[in-house]
Amino acid sequence: MYIVTAVEQVRALRWDDPSLTWGLVPTMGALHEGHLSLVRLARAQNNRVGVSIFVNPIQFNNPDDLAAYPRTLEADAALLEKEGVDLLWAPTVEEMYPPGFQTYVSVEEIAQPLEGAARPGHFRGVATVVAKLFNVFQPTRAYFGQKDAQQVAVIRQMARDLAFNLEIVVGPTVREPDGLAMSSRNVRLNPQQRIAARVLFGALFGASEAWQHGERDADALRDLMTRFVEAEPLARIDYVSVADPATLQELHGPADRALLSMAVFIGETRLIDNMVVGP
Ligand code: PAJ
Repeated sequence: MYIVTAVEQVRALRWDDPSLTWGLVPTMGALHEGHLSLVRLARAQNNRVGVSIFVNPIQFNNPDDLAAYPRTLEADAALLEKEGVDLLWAPTVEEMYPPGFQTYVSVEEIAQPLEGAARPGHFRGVATVVAKLFNVFQPTRAYFGQKDAQQVAVIRQMARDLAFNLEIVVGPTVREPDGLAMSSRNVRLNPQQRIAARVLFGALFGASEAWQHGERDADALRDLMTRFVEAEPLARIDYVSVADPATLQELHGPADRALLSMAVFIGETRLIDNMVVGP
């Protein structure tokens, strides 16, 4: 596995043999099974696999969250080596945002609600860095997790609007045995909080069960999830949403398909999760 930092090194390795297909898995590191599931998907579908590890400062709207973000490059590299990754790109902040950097990608409507409303500027940071990763890497396919449902929607929109020549592949959310979605932020939970964090999956699972039993009212599903989370004393709701999976606009009344999603603080740690119900 090559480990490189410079844009020029990535380009050289990427175009070493232009006939090969490349899968790219963009990450911020502190890798877990969720990330590795995307690496395995990329490994299965391409001749070569690249992973980027870059804690992207411009997508953090909270400086404390950026400072506290786990950085474990050596352990990450060892995991990726074992997965048969060909190229690990871990640029520095200066490499990605050299002095004088002033161009940003701003996806509009689809980036407004949910995470976009709760974290101003977040998706501008995500779209900008992903556009740059795509341009430097020029992968055949790029891999993203359903765990970040709105991120997928934003990147798909950007790729369509700016005519990026690649396929976007989405992998399912990987969970701990008790249902908690794997996240690099889970390591910040103390043992009590770790138990309380189960409330996100519990609420989503409860609502999806209600859906299976015929509940189609978006407001009733939202109430059900809200009440479930509110019953956990260590949890504080940021938002609970029942939205149109295509537009991410909030639904009211009967629905035939819905993205159930939420952001919940467990102590200082903000966790997100989602589930899609319907066809
Ligand atoms: P990061 O949070 O490191 O996640 C990297 C990729 O792994 C994302 O596509 C994310 O959706 C996926 N992922 C995270 N947890 C997962 C889980 N439990 N199951 C399946 N996939 C999971 O998302 C980012 O980084 C950044 O915003 C990035 C796209 C790299 C841009 O900076």
